[in-house]
Amino acid sequence: MRCAMILAAAGSGTRLGAEVPKAFVPLAGKPLIAWSAGAMRAVRACSQLIVAAPPGFEDCVREFLGSCEIASGGSRRQDSVAEALKIVRADMDLVAVHDAARPLVAPDDVERTLAAAAAGGAAILARRVTDTLKEVSGERIVGTADREALWRAETPQVFAPDVLREAFARWNGGLATDEAQMVTAAGYEVRVVQAAHWNPKVTYPADLELIERVIGRRR
Ligand code: CTP
Ligand code: MG
Repeated sequence: MRCAMILAAAGSGTRLGAEVPKAFVPLAGKPLIAWSAGAMRAVRACSQLIVAAPPGFEDCVREFLGSCEIASGGSRRQDSVAEALKIVRADMDLVAVHDAARPLVAPDDVERTLAAAAAGGAAILARRVTDTLKEVSGERIVGTADREALWRAETPQVFAPDVLREAFARWNGGLATDEAQMVTAAGYEVRVVQAAHWNPKVTYPADLELIERVIGRRR
């Protein structure tokens, strides 16, 4: 099985507030993009690595990652992924999209997501919600969601290449926060694969601090 891995790395990291785009922020001595690329390369099916880079940072990506292909990212995540999708090789069985901001994803979780997508055409790594979720208007609770039906979407999100291409072609152009949203809108079933390992996304400085503390202890 051959899988093209797209790393969505073109975001600016506004909420993190660093001086460089989030993908280049160091985590325990190496940039986030090096962690997430390492996680993708650890998967046997990884046959093509495409990084959607912040425009102007293409050389920087090459310096950190060595051999990989580079697409210039767009203003929204979906624009970045669309650019990367254009250079997926024709001989790929699957295409996986992974957030560069998720440095620790476990190869075993990636491989189980790939297997589910190979079987059904579309699958994402996800996690059951464990908190009780409230619908709030102003500061007043107006409802309680049925937790049984709610999962948190993570990445990678993995698809048959033609399924993802069709989803992009048919999308209405509005903001999509992940690929699964576009693929389900195109009428395809997308499976969830329950994550077995911690797969945090670096969003705020506190995320970076927590992850650094945990990996420091693991070593
Ligand atoms: N991303 C991207 N292109 C964009 C926006 C986001 O490739 N135009 C990527 C980010 O680099 C990140 C992933 O999508 O790896 C998830 O996005 P998020 O965590 O929101 O990152 P940023 O958009 O960089 O952060 P912020 O929203 O705080 O600016
Ligand atoms: Mg963002």
